[in-house]
Amino acid sequence: MYALPDLPYSYNALEPFIDEQTMHVHHDGHHATYVKNLNDVLSGHNELLNIDTKELLKSLDKVPEEIRTKVKNNAGGHFHHSFFWRIIKPNGGGEPKGRLLELISKNFKDFNSFKEKFKDSALSLFGSGWTWLIVNPDGKLEILNLPNQDSPISVDKTPVFTIDLWEHAYYLKYKNKRADFIDAFWNIVNWEQAEKNLNS
Ligand SMILES: [Fe+2]
Repeated sequence: MYALPDLPYSYNALEPFIDEQTMHVHHDGHHATYVKNLNDVLSGHNELLNIDTKELLKSLDKVPEEIRTKVKNNAGGHFHHSFFWRIIKPNGGGEPKGRLLELISKNFKDFNSFKEKFKDSALSLFGSGWTWLIVNPDGKLEILNLPNQDSPISVDKTPVFTIDLWEHAYYLKYKNKRADFIDAFWNIVNWEQAEKNLNS
C-alpha cells in the first residue's frame, strides 16, 4: 500500500509565497487523491503494491495494459508531489552551490540565465504539467516541460528540481498570474535538496 507522506514543515510555513489554504488543498486533497487512486487501481496486483513509485514509473511496461494509464497518472502524481514537498522549504531560495552551480553555469551560462530559461519554459507549458530541471545519463542538465503527471523517471532522466504548474498549485492565491507564482517560487527553493537529487 502507498501512503501519503506528511509535509516536512507546517502548512503555513511557506507563507507568503505559497498560502496555507493552497497547501491544505494541494496536500490533503490532490496528493491524497493520487495515493488513494493508486492503491485502488493496484488492488489485486499485490506485486505492484509493494514496490516504490520510482520503480513503478521506470517499468510501466510491466503494468497490465488495461490499468497502465491510471497507474502512470496516479503513481506520477504521488511521486511528483512527494518530490515537490522536499524541493521547497521555508527560508529557502538564494543560489545553488557546489556541483549544481558548476553544472548550471556550464549548461546555462550562469544562474540568472538559467532562471530566465526555466521561467520561459514554465510559462510556455500549455495546460497542466510540470517544468523540470533534469540531469541526463551523460551528466548534462536540461530543462524539460512534461504534461499532466508524465514523469522524467519514465524516460530515464533524473529529476533535480521542479515546479508544479497545475492550477491547483497556485490558483487560489495567484489566479491566472502564473508568472507571479514562478517569481515567488524562487524564494522557497531548497537548493541543498536539489544538489542531493543531482548526486543521487
Ligand atoms: Fe500538484
